[in-house]
Amino acid sequence: MEIVKTHKPTFHVTGEQGWINDPNGLIFFNNQYHAFFQHYPHDTKWGPMHWGHVVSNDLTNWKYLPIALAPGGKGDKDGCFSGSAIVHDGKLWLLYTGYEHNFGGESIRQVQCLAESADGVHFVKHGVVIGTDLLPSDYAPCDFRDPKVWFENGSFWCIVAARKIAGRGRILLYKSADLFNWEFVNDLFGKDSAGTMIECPDYNQELGYLMFCEQYQPSENGIHLNVHTCRYCIGHIDYRTGRFVEQSRDIVDYGFDMYAPQSFVGKPIVMGWLNMWDRNVPSADYGFAGMLTVARKVSVVDGRLWQEPIVHCAEVRKASGGNTVQDKVVEGVLKISATNLQNFQLTLRSNGTNCTKLTLQDDKWVFDRSNSGASIVGVEQDQDSLAGIRKMPISNNKQVELTIVLDKYSVEIFQDGRAMTSTIYPPHGADDLHLSIQADNWHYTRYQICTN
Ligand code: FRU
Repeated sequence: MEIVKTHKPTFHVTGEQGWINDPNGLIFFNNQYHAFFQHYPHDTKWGPMHWGHVVSNDLTNWKYLPIALAPGGKGDKDGCFSGSAIVHDGKLWLLYTGYEHNFGGESIRQVQCLAESADGVHFVKHGVVIGTDLLPSDYAPCDFRDPKVWFENGSFWCIVAARKIAGRGRILLYKSADLFNWEFVNDLFGKDSAGTMIECPDYNQELGYLMFCEQYQPSENGIHLNVHTCRYCIGHIDYRTGRFVEQSRDIVDYGFDMYAPQSFVGKPIVMGWLNMWDRNVPSADYGFAGMLTVARKVSVVDGRLWQEPIVHCAEVRKASGGNTVQDKVVEGVLKISATNLQNFQLTLRSNGTNCTKLTLQDDKWVFDRSNSGASIVGVEQDQDSLAGIRKMPISNNKQVELTIVLDKYSVEIFQDGRAMTSTIYPPHGADDLHLSIQADNWHYTRYQICTN
């Protein structure tokens, strides 16, 4: 089926056409940022997975390259699932999950495969390098996926999501001298996760954090309401024991739509999938489904993962004083700083009928997309989810620095290192912004995306 894309976000990555999910193989190679992503080009629904490919110089303007991996090789007959990249011997290597169903009478097989490229554009597959023979016998061969590879202490290491046959999600650590021959080291936590299965584990050894997604993870204390969620743990892998030594943990994002975040190799930069499983995707009507988040600079501050958006943009409007701002904006970056913030009500992407809201209520940012446009329905049954609401704590209203990254179909909200990310599908022409604010002192600045 040929898909025609009729609308698209201005600066968020989507497929050239069709469906995308997780970012894969995020890496800086040959002087460019490369982002790959799970991709089905022939429909706006998930299908046999390919790896789509884009490159950028500034992490804001992305250019399509040919599809990097397509299913049909040894071990990946039915799909090239998520994975990661590494530079070795001047070449770009991809370690990804090969997916096969109806294999030898069994229903599903997931194995880890290797591919190589000298130019960063064309890839040669090497087949399976971590097969089910390297999966301990009490783990399920149908849930063994999403390898994240890195190099440290003279060895290649990778973590792979797995599941015990009669259990829940696990993360397994492997080691190799050459990327081709791997040995099993240990199960990072040595116990079941809260989610039924873990997906897309990611480790950043320089900053010292692990991120992973959990499927069907019960919510905790009114946050964490998405049925599938992503978590981070601050700490380090102890290579002698093969265990993760954890200091603290929390959720990666407070919004509706952020999944499968991955770190760029050797850089403090993360991108995620700006969507969520088990929801309708209204943009399918315009020929695309799924986007990537903007790149986010990450750091670890007081045991917390701190995120700030990286967007190439230029200042176009400033306002301060009084209690309101009226503006028009469909895509761009908004920064609002305030001292002793008491009241905050922001209406975005409004046309008088539809709008999206961000307010401050009881020391929480409250995001409301219930009337933002085309309806988005998930499987979540809690009150906030049914009401189109997500909340994020505000830790300090004395000095607030709020950043909002807006694109045609998304809102990414950042404050005090936290992030709240959601899709919206407003009608064409809904571009009014109204801010009502009470603070001792405040500034509103709007930036326009620098496209090239
Ligand atoms: C996460 C995920 C991965 C898998 C991929 C398939 O969103 O389910 O576990 O590799 O998507 O597209």
